[in-house]
Amino acid sequence: MNNSRTSDDRVLELHRVEGWMFLREAVRDIRSIGALAPSSRALAHALTQPVRAHSGRPLNVLEAGAGTGAVTRALMSALPAGSRLDVVEAHPRFAARLHHLAATHQHLVGPAQQVHIHTRRVEQLDTDRCYDGIVSGLPFANFEPDQVEEIMDRYLKLLYPGGTLTYFAYRGTRKARMLLASRTETLRHRAVEAVLAGYRRHFHTASRTIWANLPPAKVWRLTRPLPAAAPAPHAVAAAGR
Ligand SMILES: C[S@@+](CC[C@H](N)C(=O)[O-])C[C@H]1O[C@@H](n2cnc3c(N)ncnc32)[C@H](O)[C@@H]1O
Repeated sequence: MNNSRTSDDRVLELHRVEGWMFLREAVRDIRSIGALAPSSRALAHALTQPVRAHSGRPLNVLEAGAGTGAVTRALMSALPAGSRLDVVEAHPRFAARLHHLAATHQHLVGPAQQVHIHTRRVEQLDTDRCYDGIVSGLPFANFEPDQVEEIMDRYLKLLYPGGTLTYFAYRGTRKARMLLASRTETLRHRAVEAVLAGYRRHFHTASRTIWANLPPAKVWRLTRPLPAAAPAPHAVAAAGR
């Protein structure tokens, strides 16, 4: 009884520390961090749902933009033994936190899972590995349209056929920008949305809103088609435009 209260307290303390760390870094650089708080458990659960759906066998999974590890933690507990998780995070202080999280997890579960933390931008990830699932936490709404296109192309190339990409967008950001941002900013954001909509039109797509997050977020899931169902090459090329 006492022990479980102690471990609940430890989890609360951990979330408090991570929450403050996240907020501090977001205040310094909101454009690259893209949020004021880590994702809620409900959002992390929705983003990792496709991984759990495949979890009868070892999987290769990539997480991009992991922050303080809200989604990383959900992935590490969902992945079956023999899986590999590559976690990419551009911010060095967050990456240090993720190293600690991965080391603690591996201390508990042993070498059953391989977790690798890469401190760099996902655009610079040097890999020829393919993935069953990619979970992206990147703040696309703050990026330039070209950068979003480069990253989405990369994600879809890195997925095995049948693999899934999940990412999220906060609800209401377009309206907020229309009210508060400059015209250039509004146009940039609209162009980013158009790029993402292009991919969603050409890949099997599903979405759901997670209200239990601050702010509520829409989770998108794109599936790379299996070879038999793959669209003609010219259609795939057009999908990125
Ligand atoms: C909105 S936060 C999401 C954090 C975490 N996934 C969560 O849900 O709580 C976005 C994260 O992406 C990271 N990031 C931004 N641009 C990146 C890039 N090009 N490559 C890798 N990480 C990036 C930021 O440092 C930040 O930690």
